[in-house]
Amino acid sequence: MSKFEITIDGQALWVDPGTTILNAANAAGVIIPTLCYVPAKTVEHPCGICVVEVDDREDLLPACSTLVEDGMKVATQSDRVTESRQRVLTSMLSRHYGD
Ligand code: FES
Repeated sequence: MSKFEITIDGQALWVDPGTTILNAANAAGVIIPTLCYVPAKTVEHPCGICVVEVDDREDLLPACSTLVEDGMKVATQSDRVTESRQRVLTSMLSRHYGD
């Protein structure tokens, strides 16, 4: 099976089909924050903290569950990504009490 060529934060990578963006990034040393991600588990209510920007997609995508596609260009640190993660954290903290 041939590999897909993708770009994460400008870094070109060759990745096996079926790999998530999160795993491809981790293998390349790019850290994407996660909260609900557990390897090999499906999460009922995704937290959305791992979102990334993919150049041809209107919506941000969850890196932990989105599979790479050939030619995909991923940004893990854009303003849009940072704002989305901040919104998720603010919302979580506004509902969190007891600790
Ligand atoms: S880590 Fe929660 S949706 Fe990806």
